[in-house]
Amino acid sequence: MASGFLPQAVIQLHPTLACNLRCGHCYSRSGPGASRGGIPAATFLAALVPLRAEGYDVISISGGEPFAYRGLDELVLGAAATGWRVHLVTNGTLITPRRIERIAPHLSAVAVSLDGDEGAHNELRASPTAFADALRGMDVLRAAGVGFGVSMTVGRVTLDDVPAVYDHCAAHGAALLSLRPLAPLGRASEMDGVVLDHDGMARLFIAAQLLDGLDPNLRVRTDAAPAAWIAEGRANFDVPMVATDRPLADLVNPLVVDELGQLLPFAHGLDPRLSMGDIRDVDAAIAVVRRDGLRRVASLVERTFDHLPTDDGAFVDWYASVAHESHAAMERARRIPVASASA
Ligand SMILES: C[S@@+](CC[C@H](N)C(=O)[O-])C[C@H]1O[C@@H](n2cnc3c(N)ncnc32)[C@H](O)[C@@H]1O
Ligand code: SF4
Repeated sequence: MASGFLPQAVIQLHPTLACNLRCGHCYSRSGPGASRGGIPAATFLAALVPLRAEGYDVISISGGEPFAYRGLDELVLGAAATGWRVHLVTNGTLITPRRIERIAPHLSAVAVSLDGDEGAHNELRASPTAFADALRGMDVLRAAGVGFGVSMTVGRVTLDDVPAVYDHCAAHGAALLSLRPLAPLGRASEMDGVVLDHDGMARLFIAAQLLDGLDPNLRVRTDAAPAAWIAEGRANFDVPMVATDRPLADLVNPLVVDELGQLLPFAHGLDPRLSMGDIRDVDAAIAVVRRDGLRRVASLVERTFDHLPTDDGAFVDWYASVAHESHAAMERARRIPVASASA
């Protein structure tokens, strides 16, 4: 059983922030020309050897746009050849039969993002063709025999689009619809009134439960959950503050590698002081964990659970909560005078 809330032990890779789109809500502020080139595939492939020994078995390649990353084929083929299950999260617009021919047999799963019905999706994605292109990409995956799902980022405006997106999933052969509450991170932090309020989170949760029961071939999941359920999951996060021999996958899942190569716990965009090391020297990062444990990560987890709402009927997204807590802690630290902060 993997630690955290995931059934598998996952490394989430963001090799580059380069992207063919520039979505208004993008938490990583990706776009054309951002972190051009990215981290070489060879760097990841070398790092996957010690990370496998630490208990991870899935890499999920995100970004930026995976299909805008030059090293994609080398990374997918190299990781699959050494036994990794390889997942992609993509906007779907660059998928063509020719582009995926080499990698298709080596992909365990692909998530295509549809963030609303056509109008809302194209507006959020700042492209008049993003929706049609994503559906076409899904059809290419289906024809190539690649199992895929849809990831929908749900905000206030798009909550009512959930049933329509479900219908698109059914029509195009998606096996999973993942409903992810829009988080006020990156460019979304500059948008007003887009994040789901309490009622919106509750409606999203209920919609996911109802839709999940309709068709055994199209499962529906959401990161919006009753705070009480999340609190019950606290035992899945046993992060040591002292030297430990336990494999990293038992302590931090998912492990995120951002576009700078930092190893971060749980989510992209956390306070860089939570970095556990660098993808270019994973052995050194693991040696530090063995020697010192993960004091900062442990206290982030503790604060995140301690600050969950306790009122009846509250809903939360744990990943947004952990990101929020990381930035709140940074803000508190900024307010502490330098002399006492360094004590
Ligand atoms: C950053 S994108 C990278 C992969 C690819 N470019 C894509 O759009 O699917 C990964 C996922 O994050 C979602 N996302 C982007 N900004 C978000 C935000 N502010 N809150 C929640 N999810 C967000 C996207 O909709 C997408 O499903
Ligand atoms: S959400 Fe995905 S497609 Fe949109 S800008 Fe960010 S990385 Fe690119």
